[in-house]
Amino acid sequence: MRHSTVTDTTPERVPFGELFTHHMVTAHWTGQDGWSAPRLEPFGDLRMSPAMVGLHYGQVVFEGLKAYRREEDAVAVFRPDDHAARLRRSAERLAVPALADDTLLQAVDLLLAADGGCLPDQPGLSLYLRPVLYASEAHLALRPARQYAFLLIAFVTGGFFSDRPDPVTVWVGRDHTRAAPGGTGGVKYAGNYAPSYAAQEQARQAGCDQVVWLDPVERRWVEELGGMNLFFVRGSGPSAQVITPPATGTLLPGVTRDSLLHLAARQQLAVREEPVSVGQWKAECLDGTITETFASGTAAVVTPVGVVRDGAQSWQVGTGRAGPVTLALRDALVDIHTGRAPAPEGWLRTVRTQGSRPGPARSQESLVGSGQ
Ligand SMILES: Cc1ncc(COP(=O)(O)O)c(C=O)c1O
Repeated sequence: MRHSTVTDTTPERVPFGELFTHHMVTAHWTGQDGWSAPRLEPFGDLRMSPAMVGLHYGQVVFEGLKAYRREEDAVAVFRPDDHAARLRRSAERLAVPALADDTLLQAVDLLLAADGGCLPDQPGLSLYLRPVLYASEAHLALRPARQYAFLLIAFVTGGFFSDRPDPVTVWVGRDHTRAAPGGTGGVKYAGNYAPSYAAQEQARQAGCDQVVWLDPVERRWVEELGGMNLFFVRGSGPSAQVITPPATGTLLPGVTRDSLLHLAARQQLAVREEPVSVGQWKAECLDGTITETFASGTAAVVTPVGVVRDGAQSWQVGTGRAGPVTLALRDALVDIHTGRAPAPEGWLRTVRTQGSRPGPARSQESLVGSGQ
């Protein structure tokens, strides 16, 4: 086992999903007692039966939300109520007993009160919170489990691709689809993610950063980009239109997507939820109608798309760099995250931190290595 402590918290160098904080919050569900009260524990390995349902049949749902530094002893969590509501919808789809929204908020408060101080006071860094609900019962019959567990862990993160919005090159996935009508694409189900790795690998081999998912029926409507939602900008200046594919059930309705739709409307831009085909995307980039494309998500915030590859064809979006609408929306959102601009009512939950002092979190290796 390697022992290492990560001390470099330069936002561009902080790896995604590795610098875990010192604690986790757990809760357990049984048919008799429902969900137990959330409990703070040291971050550490789990004990599980080799016959655990979640491991075999994937009855697992999760969320991803972020907390940003406020004053030295406080952090602000971005739209936790909306993430709690989506976790409830995901749980319902996977026949997992829903965790009350208040229980999730209580868990977030517990973890951040203990570990919020792990977030260095550096612009560009945030704490990513990962709640997960999983079937913990040991049985292998094909039926929903009768025992479940909840976990909340957190890690320090910078930007997803990079903290600056460098444009990405994207690859249109033609061999695989992410989700099916009536399936699980509209919720945050663990099993949605591993099947995307093969397509992501194809994209990487084609020299691209991310895979563009098309609709699963006609295979021509643009739905998402990897684990992010997509936006198109038609035109420019005050008459620019901001368009995102409608939440058809096969794409995940992102909290960032909803936030950007709100902020775009507040910037007096015309906002539409409307399907855009890959053919339209190409033709309208070439004739200058589509001027910008960007992706949105909690991890990546707002990421401009510079170039699209579809088989042997490729085209540039606008100038190939982050456009003015992309940057204005990104800035508006980041200003709310960092407290430079007031947040719409109910978007932020402030938690006072105690215990751990600001400083670099430990890497997973050092946590494991230190025997916790
Ligand atoms: C498939 C998928 N699409 C979109 C998103 C963006 O959602 P959000 O803005 O809530 O992070 C995510 C991330 O949760 C995702 O996994």
